[in-house]
Amino acid sequence: MVLLSHTQLPSQMNTRKYSFSTAILLLLYVLIPRDSAVSLAQPISFSSSAYDGAFIADRRCYDPEDDEGTSSMSSATCKNQTRRGTAVAEDCLVWSKECSEAVLSIARRPEMGEWLRRVRRRIHENPELAFEEYETSRLIREELDLMQVSYRYPLAKTGIRAWIGTGLPPFVAIRADMDALPIQEAVEWEYKSKVAGKMHACGHDVHVAMLMGAAKILKTREHLLKGTVILIFQPAEEAGNGAKRMIQDGALEDVEAIFAVHVSHEHPTGIIGSRPGPLLAGCGFFRAVISGKEASAYNPHRSVDPVLAASAIVTSLQGIVSREANPLDSQVVSVTSFNGGDNLDMIPDTVVLGGTFRAYSNASFYQLIERIEQVIVEQASVYRCSAEVDFFEKELNIYPPTVNDDRMYEHVKKVSMDLLGASNFREVPPMMGAEDFSFYTQVVPAAFFYIGIRNETLGSTHTGHSPYFMIDEDVLPIGAATHAAIAERYLLEQG
Ligand SMILES: *[C@@H]1O[C@H](CO)[C@@H](O)[C@H](O)[C@H]1NC(C)=O
Ligand SMILES: *[C@@H]1O[C@H](CO)[C@@H](O)[C@H](O)[C@H]1NC(C)=O
Ligand SMILES: *[C@@H]1O[C@H](CO)[C@@H](O)[C@H](O)[C@H]1NC(C)=O
Ligand SMILES: [Zn+2]
Ligand SMILES: [Zn+2]
Repeated sequence: MVLLSHTQLPSQMNTRKYSFSTAILLLLYVLIPRDSAVSLAQPISFSSSAYDGAFIADRRCYDPEDDEGTSSMSSATCKNQTRRGTAVAEDCLVWSKECSEAVLSIARRPEMGEWLRRVRRRIHENPELAFEEYETSRLIREELDLMQVSYRYPLAKTGIRAWIGTGLPPFVAIRADMDALPIQEAVEWEYKSKVAGKMHACGHDVHVAMLMGAAKILKTREHLLKGTVILIFQPAEEAGNGAKRMIQDGALEDVEAIFAVHVSHEHPTGIIGSRPGPLLAGCGFFRAVISGKEASAYNPHRSVDPVLAASAIVTSLQGIVSREANPLDSQVVSVTSFNGGDNLDMIPDTVVLGGTFRAYSNASFYQLIERIEQVIVEQASVYRCSAEVDFFEKELNIYPPTVNDDRMYEHVKKVSMDLLGASNFREVPPMMGAEDFSFYTQVVPAAFFYIGIRNETLGSTHTGHSPYFMIDEDVLPIGAATHAAIAERYLLEQG
């Protein structure tokens, strides 16, 4: 997630500028109050399992711990083997409680938990910034090789598109981001970042591990898949719009729906949260150069005064949200920078002003871009000035809103409730952060959801982008199982 902060001036906005804030995530507005009926019951625990061993036959087809892959069989033999060897309920032709339990039982295996921690810790120790995720990507590919999962590489420099299933439609995608942040880790623990000034402070190490866990679960259940699951490991979420480049490089080829998760310090470990419609704000910046004509201040008629024009522009920009936006559709336009002239006796020839804008709905976001440009250009011309507006699209500093498709949201909700229990799902309010997952949501129906990592005992209560950020690793198998169930069940029911 990108917490684009107020500190960013247009003049500082060069290429791939990171901006991050250690301030708490602001809730811009709350459409729906926290559901008071939602139970705060203890999150599910993976330590005591009633289902271990329920999935013996599948393990004969693919054993996730068999890193040599010696026990894997051709898919036809595998299918045969399973049909003979296991209870029919596990065929999951219709999703049942047993299917959820089968997925959970794989996730709960102690060796799975250990492996997930190992993977996550290795990535945590070696954080890599946007488009530099070479070692992270290599680790993922090595593990995929061991699992005998096929993939395409590289997309967007370090990205991976892997697939599990029939190779035929429908195709459903699940996505993880791989990049870290330019933050010095302040948590003292055994697997602290070994790279000075870099840290996985947003939990993308966790996202990668959970998606790898999903790969293991889905590979084990590959003969049950009614289509193809695409696993997307993308670079550069925090800066550089990695999602956009992944799409350009074909990450979404054939894909008809996509899902992704983000860890959240606001919810107890393992709680899933999401909402239909807008979830995360769209966010962009603008810089305008207002050009007039320089002259001595005592001869104002010889000038074309950009200071006066820019002043009128600032005032007019205020009217966009206050007079044109539906008050129930939250939007922000703020001018944060205004520069021109340094001689108190001269009217300057240019003024540069800039600021930022946010919106939750897709239509409002693009409407703001259009109106900000119009207001600046037209208002400048009232004062005989000209204006040019830059929205930093080339610098990849523009994030559309993350808007959940209603049907995909319902799918996440249903799958999580069936998998983890109804009390472990929450409908959450929209949040101020931005996410480049929004680029996928522009192309195919999508849903983004949170998974809680908050554990007061462990101290995993810090917001993303804090140097004190840490997680409760018990989330790993829960996230892996959730991803896997969302994908498998999508193919079964939605595809
Ligand atoms: C599957 O099992 C049936 C009956 O046991 C057998 O006739 C058939 O040849 C097997 N197919 C494969 C691909 O192993
Ligand atoms: C958002 O709006 C843009 C511009 O109008 C459009 O191209 C895009 O398809 C829209 N996305 C969605 C998800 O509606
Ligand atoms: C927090 O973590 C501790 C240590 O792992 C664990 O015993 C406890 O059950 C966790 N609490 C919650 C609410 O998950
Ligand atoms: Zn993030
Ligand atoms: Zn982030």
